[in-house]
Amino acid sequence: MPDDYKNSSQPIERRISALLAAMTPEEKVGQMVMGAGSPECARQLIHKNFIGGYLHAMGEHLAEIQRCAEATRLGIPILFGIDAIHGHGLWKGATIFPTQLALSCAWSPEMLERVGRITAKEVRVTGPQWVFSPQLDIGRDIRWGRLGETFGEDVFLAGELGAALCRGYQGNDLRHLYSVAACAKHFAGYGDTVGGRDSTDSEVSRKKLLNDYLPVFERVLAEGCRTVMTGYQTVEGIPCTTHHWLLRDVLREQWKFDGFVVTDWDTVGRAVREQFVFQNVGEASAAAIRAGSEMSMVTEGFFEGVLAAWRKGEIDTDTVDAAVANLLRVKFEVGLFDDPKKRYPLPEREEIVYCSAHRKAAFEAVVASCVLLENNGILPLRTLPKKIAVVGPNADDLFAQLGGWSIGAPQGEFADPVQPRERVVTILDGLRSAFGSQSEILYAKGCNAMHGTDKVADFFLPHQPVGYLDEPEGGIGEAVRIAGESDLVVAVLGDTQSQVGEGNDRSDMRLGGDQEALVAALQKTGKPLILVLVVSKPHIIENIRGAASAILCAWNPGSEGGHAVAALLKGEINPSGKLTQSWPRSLGQQPVHYDQKPGWHATRFVSECAEPRYPFGHGLSYTSFAYSDLQTDKETYGADESIRVRVSVKNTGETAGDEIVQCYVRDVVRSELAPLKQLKGWAKISLAAGETQEVCISVPISSLGFYNCDGARVLEAGEFTIMVGPSSENGQLLSKTIAVTTAATHKTTEGNTL
Ligand code: NOJ
Repeated sequence: MPDDYKNSSQPIERRISALLAAMTPEEKVGQMVMGAGSPECARQLIHKNFIGGYLHAMGEHLAEIQRCAEATRLGIPILFGIDAIHGHGLWKGATIFPTQLALSCAWSPEMLERVGRITAKEVRVTGPQWVFSPQLDIGRDIRWGRLGETFGEDVFLAGELGAALCRGYQGNDLRHLYSVAACAKHFAGYGDTVGGRDSTDSEVSRKKLLNDYLPVFERVLAEGCRTVMTGYQTVEGIPCTTHHWLLRDVLREQWKFDGFVVTDWDTVGRAVREQFVFQNVGEASAAAIRAGSEMSMVTEGFFEGVLAAWRKGEIDTDTVDAAVANLLRVKFEVGLFDDPKKRYPLPEREEIVYCSAHRKAAFEAVVASCVLLENNGILPLRTLPKKIAVVGPNADDLFAQLGGWSIGAPQGEFADPVQPRERVVTILDGLRSAFGSQSEILYAKGCNAMHGTDKVADFFLPHQPVGYLDEPEGGIGEAVRIAGESDLVVAVLGDTQSQVGEGNDRSDMRLGGDQEALVAALQKTGKPLILVLVVSKPHIIENIRGAASAILCAWNPGSEGGHAVAALLKGEINPSGKLTQSWPRSLGQQPVHYDQKPGWHATRFVSECAEPRYPFGHGLSYTSFAYSDLQTDKETYGADESIRVRVSVKNTGETAGDEIVQCYVRDVVRSELAPLKQLKGWAKISLAAGETQEVCISVPISSLGFYNCDGARVLEAGEFTIMVGPSSENGQLLSKTIAVTTAATHKTTEGNTL
C-alpha cells in the first residue's frame, strides 16, 4: 500500500519500501541533501530539492522549515542536526559542560552517559533530533586546533567514553521524546593529518587505521550510533567522502552498519576546489554516492550532480535506493514520522534548559575533569589568606571558559554572539563566592592571552566584543601591584577562542601574549603562586612551571567552571582527573603519545629526553595511594579467556580521594613491532583515608590481538606483561608477565585485506 509508510504499526523496513516506491528520483536525491541557512533559503531548497537534513536551525527557525517540509507532496520530515558538542553550546543560555578532552580526564563512562542524556534533553526542547557528536578522532599533535574536541590519545579509552556518550544521546529508545541520534565523526584518521594542520592529508597506512583509528568507531557503532560523518581530509590521497574502502568495505561490509553517512561541511565541493581530486562537483557527487556517502552537507550542485550521474547510469538505482533507505531508516527510528512532537521544539524548554539539576551535573563534571599537574603542598588552601590576587587573561573570560563550539566560538558564527553573562561562573566569580566572605579578592587581568597582531588568519573570527585584545588597564604592572599587596596569587592563564578549533592550528604552543612575562613578573614578588590553566589542550609550560607552587588544569570548564575550581582549591573536593593526552616538554617532541613503538635511538633527543613533561594518565591528588600485590588469576591463558588482574590500592594519606587505576599490557615479542604498552582496562575507585581496596580489572585475551600488515586480526601466542599503576609512567607501574598459549587468526573481509 502506497500509504503504508505512514502506518506506525508496520515494520520499519516495510514502511521504507512503501515510501521508496512512492518517491520520484528528485525526491530521493533530495533526501540526500542537507541544507543550512535562513528559513527563506530553506524554503527555496525544499521547493526545489525536498531536502532531507538541515543543520544549525533551532527554535522557531526550525519549526518554520519543518512546516515547509510537511507541506510537500509526501510530507517527509526533515532531520535537524546541531553541533551540541559539550552541552548544547550553540543555544543561548544552555548548560555547557567541559569540552570533550576535559571530560575524558574523568575516565568515567557513567559521567559521559549523563552528560549525553542532559545534552540530548536540552537539544530536543529546542528542536533538533540529531547531534554531531561524539568526536572520535585520536589526538596526535597538540598543534592541531581541534585536539580539544577529542577524547585524547588512547584508542581504547576513547572507544569506551564515546560509546557512553552515544548511549546518553540515544537513550534506550531513539523514539523517546528526549532522545537524539548521535554521529560518530570524523571518519577516519582525521586526528593524524600531517603536522597537526587541519584538513590536510592523513598519511597513514591501512594497518595504522585498523589498529589505532578505526577501533574507536567500531566500538561506538557497536553501541548503536546511528550516523557517521566523514572527515574533511584525504586518507591515502583519497577524500574520506569518496573513500570506498572506508565507507563500503569497512563500514558496511565488515561492520554491517545500517545507519547513514553524512559528509562534513561541503567536502564534496572541496574535493574539487581544494583537494583537486575531481574535475567538477557532478563527478565528485557521483563518486561520493558510489563510495557510500549518503547525505551531503551543503554542497551546491550536489543534487543536480547526483541526478545527472544517475540518469547517465554512472550511479545505479540500487545504490541510490539503498542510500535513501538508510536515511529514511534513521528518520523512522527517531520517530519523526509518527510523533509530531518529535519534529518540533517542545513547550517545556524554559524549565529544562540550564535547570538546577543540569547545573549540578555540570559542576560534578568539572570537578572530575580538572587535573592537578603540580602541587608542592600549598593545596588545598586549608587556611584562607587575608588577601588573594586573582590575575590573568582567563580569570574572567567567558569565551575561554566555555571553549569551542559554544556561543562566541569561531564555529558559532550564526548563533547569538554572547552567552548570557549570568549563566557563566568564571573562575573569578567562583573564587569570589567561595573565598570572598573571608578573604579580600583583588583582580587585575594583567595581559591578554594573545597579541592582537598574533592572528594572521582571519578565518572564523570569533565574536568576542570589539577590542577584546586591547591592552588591559594597568597591564602587567597592575597585576604585580596587587600581587605585592596580597598573601597569595592565583594566575588564571590559557588560550583564547581565536587559537582553538577549525582554522586555528598553532605553530607555537607556549602560552600566548605576554603570559610568560606576567608569570616571571609575579614570581619576582616572592608571593606564593598558583596557576589555574583554562586551556583547550596541552601547552608547553616549561618556562613558567618552576615559578608555581601548584598547577591545576581546568581545561575549558564550561558554565560551572568557577564554582568547581574554587571547591578544588579549597579542598572541599579532592582532585582526581588524569590526563588523556600527554603534555610535551617542547613542540619538537611531537608526537609524544604514550603508546609509542620502540627504536634504539628513540629514547632521547640531542637536547632533551623523549619523555613528555606530564604523561598520559598523570594527575595528582591531595592524598596519596600505594599500589601493591599485583596478581593474575592464572599464569597461562587460552585465546577465548580473560585475565582477571588484581591489585591492592591503599589510600595512604589523610584525605578521602578517588583514584583511577590503570592497566597496561605489552606484547613481549611480536612478529610485527608492538607498542611498549597499551591501555587495556581501568577502574575508578573511591577510598577513605587509610582504606585499602582490592581492585579487579578484566582484560579479554582477544583484546591483545592486532591487525598485521596483511590486514588480518591476529593474536600471537607468547608472553604478555601486565602493568598496573597510577599513570603510564614506567617508574610507577607494578608488572607481571603471563603467557597466552593459543594463537588465533581472524581474517578480515577481503576488502579489508591490504
Ligand atoms: C564542520 C566540522 O568539521 C564538523 O565537526 C561539524 O559537525 C560540521 N562542520 C557541522 O557544523
